[in-house]
Amino acid sequence: MLDFRSATGFEGEMAAAKKDQSGGATGPVRAQRSGPLSGVVRAPGDKSISQRALIFGALSAGETTISGLLEGEDVLRTAAALRALGAEIEREGGIWRITGGPWRSPERALFFGNSGTGARLVMGAVAGAGVAASFDGDRSLRSRPMGRVLEPLRMMGVNAEDSGGRLPVRIGGNDGLTAINVKLATPSAQVKSAILLAALRAEGVTRIHEPILCRDHTERMLAAFGAKLKTESDGADGRFIEIQSGGQLRACDVTAPGDPSSAAFLIAAAVITPGSEIVVENVLVNPLRAGFYETLREMGADISFENQRAQSGEPVADIRARYSVLSGVEVAATRAPSMIDEYPILSVVASFANGETMMHGLDELRVKESDRLASVEAGLVACGVDVASGEDWLRIRGAGATPKGGARIKTHHDHRIAMSFLVMGGASENPVEIDDGATIATSFPEFLQTMTALGAAVET
Ligand code: S3P
Repeated sequence: MLDFRSATGFEGEMAAAKKDQSGGATGPVRAQRSGPLSGVVRAPGDKSISQRALIFGALSAGETTISGLLEGEDVLRTAAALRALGAEIEREGGIWRITGGPWRSPERALFFGNSGTGARLVMGAVAGAGVAASFDGDRSLRSRPMGRVLEPLRMMGVNAEDSGGRLPVRIGGNDGLTAINVKLATPSAQVKSAILLAALRAEGVTRIHEPILCRDHTERMLAAFGAKLKTESDGADGRFIEIQSGGQLRACDVTAPGDPSSAAFLIAAAVITPGSEIVVENVLVNPLRAGFYETLREMGADISFENQRAQSGEPVADIRARYSVLSGVEVAATRAPSMIDEYPILSVVASFANGETMMHGLDELRVKESDRLASVEAGLVACGVDVASGEDWLRIRGAGATPKGGARIKTHHDHRIAMSFLVMGGASENPVEIDDGATIATSFPEFLQTMTALGAAVET
C-alpha cells in the first residue's frame, strides 16, 4: 500500500515567503466597471522558470540563488517537496538559496497541491536522482493525466505505479535507466522536461523529437546548469533535443522575469477598458510564450514591447498596452503551445471585439486545472456572450458592444478562470462575481492589489 499522507513543509515555505496575505482572497470576489486603468506595475515571477530554477538548483552541486521567484502556492509546494527530497532551501530578503542533494527517498508522499508542473517535473527528477517517492495532489491535480509522463519514463526503465494513469503515483526503486529515442505525442513542455530530467541518469544519449515547439525554458536553463544538451532543427517546424547522461549539474544564479501568462490579465484589462494605458515591466517575452500578445496585435490591440533585453538567458521587455478597438480573428491550432494558458483571458478579450473569434486546436484545455473549454464557455454564456464550442474549438461572436456581465462564475478551483472573469467584470455593464478567489494565489498572489493599483474596482 502506498503512503499518501502529505509531506510537511509547505506551511514553512509559506512562512519563509513572509507573504503579505492582506490582498489575498478567501471567498467570493467581485469586479465592477471602473474608469480608465493607468500605471506602471510588475507581474510576479514566471511560474515555469521559478519551478525549474528550484528543481535544477536542488539537483546541483553548490548554492543556487533565485531572485524574482514566484512565491505562489504552486511553486512553494515544489519547494516543500524538494526539501523533503534532501535539498536545503532558504529565503533571505527576497533571494531564495538552494543547496542541492544528495537526494533521499521521503517517507511521506510529496503533495503538489494544484501544480501539474511541479508534480510532473519532479517525477522526472526523482527518476533521474535514483530515489523513490510517492506523489499526490488536490482534487483538480488528481483528475489530470499522468500517463503522458509515466509512459516515456517507463520506456527508460523507471518503475512507476499509478492510479489509472492519474495521481497518486509512486516512482523509483529501479537500478540503471537507459536512454531513449522518443517523439513527443503531445506538445507538452512538462513531459519534455520530465524526460530530460530522468535522462540525466539514463545511460547514453536521450533524443527527443519535438514536432511542435513548446516552451524551452528547461533546455535553456539545463544548459546553463552545465547539462550536456544540444538542440537542432528537424528541418520542418520542430526540433531534436539531445541530452547526454552523467556529469553533475552546477549551481547557477537565476533571475526570474515577470510571467507573461500573469501579465496577460493586466494587459487584457487595459486593452478592453476605455481610456486605459498601462506598462507591465520586466516581462518574459520568449517567442514560445508570446502567442497571446501576437494574437492581441492581430485583433488590433495597441501593445508594444519596449526596452527589450536579456535576463538569465531569456528575452525580457516592458509591455505597454492601451485601450483599443478590437476585431475578431481566426486563431490557428499551431499557435496553441505558445499561449496554452492564455485562452481563458483571450476569450474574455474576444467578447469585447467586433465580430467572430474562432480558436482551433484546444484539446489540451480539457486537461488543465479545470476543463477550461467548459469553464470558459459556461462563464461567457452567463455573462451574455454569444459563444459555442466543440471538442477542441471555441467560437466567440463579439457584438462590438460591452458585454452584459452580471453573473456569478464557478472557478472550479482554477486560478486562470478566476482572474479572467474578474477582468471581464471590470469592463462589463454589470459586476461579475467569482465563487472563490483563494485559487488566485496559485500563480498571482498579488493580483487583487495590482489590479487595484491600476484603478480596477475589485473587492472581496
Ligand atoms: C508548463 C507547461 C504547460 C503549461 C503549464 C506550465 C511548464 O503545460 O500549461 O502552465 O512549466 O512546463 P503542458 O506541458 O501540459 O502543456
